[in-house]
Parts: sequence; C-alpha cells; structure tokens
Amino acid sequence: MKFLVLNGVNLNLTGLREKSVYGTKTLDEINAELTAFCKANGDEVTFYQSNIEGELVNKLHEVFLQKSCDAVIFNAGAFTHYSYALRDAIAAIDIPVVEVHMSNVHAREEFRHISVLSSVCKGVICGFGANSYKAAIFAVKA
Ligand code: DQA
Repeated sequence: MKFLVLNGVNLNLTGLREKSVYGTKTLDEINAELTAFCKANGDEVTFYQSNIEGELVNKLHEVFLQKSCDAVIFNAGAFTHYSYALRDAIAAIDIPVVEVHMSNVHAREEFRHISVLSSVCKGVICGFGANSYKAAIFAVKA
C-alpha cells in the first residue's frame, strides 16, 4: 500500500517542544522509523508537514486528484479541534484518512476533547506517542 503521513501545525517542532507530552524524537526521526516500518511490510510512505491550513487542504486534494496514495495518516495538530476546512477536505476525498495524535487528547484540556475531523475519518488513534502513527498504518492494513 501507499501511505501519506500528513502532519499539521506545530508538528515540525516534535522532539523540541513539550517533550514531556510529545517525547524527544524529532519528526525526521519519527518519519525515518515509519519509512523502515513500511519498507519491512512492503509498503511505500511519503511525508508532508505544514503549519498552513490551506496547504494541508491542497495536499489532501492532490492525493485525491492524482490517486497517489491508498490511505492518509493525519495528525492535524490543533487544527483538529476547529478546522472545518480540513474536515470538508477529508469528506471530499474517497481516500481513507486516519486521525492520529501522539498524546491522549482525552486526558488533556477540554478543548482537545473535541475533534471536528473524527466523524469523517476512518478511525482515530491517540495516546501512543510516535507509535500512534505505526498503529494507524497497521490498522489500515489489517
Ligand atoms: C496533537 C494533539 C493536539 O491537541 C495538539 O494541538 C498538537 C498535537 C498530538 O499529536 O497529540 O499539536 O495532535
């Protein structure tokens, strides 16, 4: 299978920000692990990160129009909690999107308990640190 791992706002600082919440691995290190994980399973993976909501919308449109992946693993960061534009983009495409969070958003501040994306996603995985991404890939394949 071909996966796109899509990361949204502030995820470029993973490993550098709020280490007690998000861990010490950088996004590049996490992505390198995911590349090895996918390779070992005979899968392909590409990565995209942006802090700009519209660029994430564009990427979702791109993979849909170009039919360039089979599933999207998406950590939208704080956009998760209020971006109707991303929600509509996910709803618009016929590629399964898995919502991922490294932290357990339900054990944190109340505003993080709300996701405007979940109901248009194939499923949601949160709370397993960097392994949340691997769990999502595993779940899509199972
Ligand atoms: C996050 C959780 C969000 O609430 C937060 O805004 C993030 C990261 C996570 O991976 O746990 O930036 O998506």
